[in-house]
Amino acid sequence: MKFDFTGKVVIVVGGTSGINRGIAEHFAATGAKVAVASRSQEKVDDTVASLKQKGAADVMGFVCDVRNPDEVEEGLAKVHQAWGDFDSLVSGAAGNFPALASKMSANAFRTVVDIDLMGTYHVMRSAYPFMKRPGSSVINISAPQAYLPYEAQSHVCAAKAGVDMLTRTTAMEWGSEGIRVNSVVPGAIDGTEGMKRLAPTEPIRQMILEDTPMQRFGTPADVANLCLFLNSELATFISGQIIAVDGALYQRGSGTFNRKLAEPLYKM
Ligand code: NAP
Ligand code: COA
Repeated sequence: MKFDFTGKVVIVVGGTSGINRGIAEHFAATGAKVAVASRSQEKVDDTVASLKQKGAADVMGFVCDVRNPDEVEEGLAKVHQAWGDFDSLVSGAAGNFPALASKMSANAFRTVVDIDLMGTYHVMRSAYPFMKRPGSSVINISAPQAYLPYEAQSHVCAAKAGVDMLTRTTAMEWGSEGIRVNSVVPGAIDGTEGMKRLAPTEPIRQMILEDTPMQRFGTPADVANLCLFLNSELATFISGQIIAVDGALYQRGSGTFNRKLAEPLYKM
């Protein structure tokens, strides 16, 4: 099935690697104008060059740390000035590392909440005046941690649960203006930084596979396809939803892989 987003303006914050870069690539392949943003100028430049090389209609990039609302606002304003109102906003910048609640520093916990939750808020708040009314869509990239408790993930669980509640509340506040807001929850997506950090060994990877009823890891394309659908004419009455693309991972609950991940941390 082919989507055609020719002329549409799509912003992917955190779109310079992994899953989010995959989302940016998929939107670009539908004819959309795509802007990506992250902290590293090098990653932004590399993504912009790669999207252009793959034939994207129009590409922009800007550097910002989502923890800094001024940087986010300035970057989004530049895109708006160049291309006009936004059809789609994908907010997916995140930070993660395994650490126990009692052992990490207050700054470590705050760092993840600042990137994932405050960052998502800054992105949404700054983009809000620029969203097309009616007919635009916001997608926040969440995680299973938002509704499944995992050891060594208290900071991420707290932050991503907050992201999903932001999704649900803003879907209510912005619905009458024709702005839809949804969360997309990737399962275990292979070849990503998130997997490197949470599934660093083969035994842990195997445990995740056992916890995933469909018995395979996901790909960035799996997640991107859901984002394309949510931004399409097929989804114009879908808002306020938390939608997983996880091979049914959620049905087995938290599983045990993270117990294995946390084991060495208890001994430290
Ligand atoms: P990733 O490759 O590390 O992607 C994170 C992106 O966010 C990068 O572009 C990074 O670029 C940017 N970023 C990080 N901190 C930032 C900050 N403070 N300000 C601005 N940009 C920032 O990770 P990934 O594994 O693909 O994960 C992508 C998303 O999917 C995340 O929201 C994650 O929670 C979610 N997710 C992933 C998995 C998985 O299996 N990987 C599972 C569930 C959910 P810079 O370094 O240049 O800033
Ligand atoms: N265990 C415990 N604490 C850790 C940690 C770990 N593995 N990694 C970082 N921290 C702590 C640091 O020690 C610091 O706390 P302190 O000041 O009390 O020492 C705090 O977290 C902030 O670390 P810092 O390196 O200064 O943060 P940063 O802003 O440069 O980077 C991170 C943010 C830590 C989230 C970094 O891992 C990152 O940039 N991640 C983005 C990519 C990513 O996580 N992708 C996966 C997405 S699922």
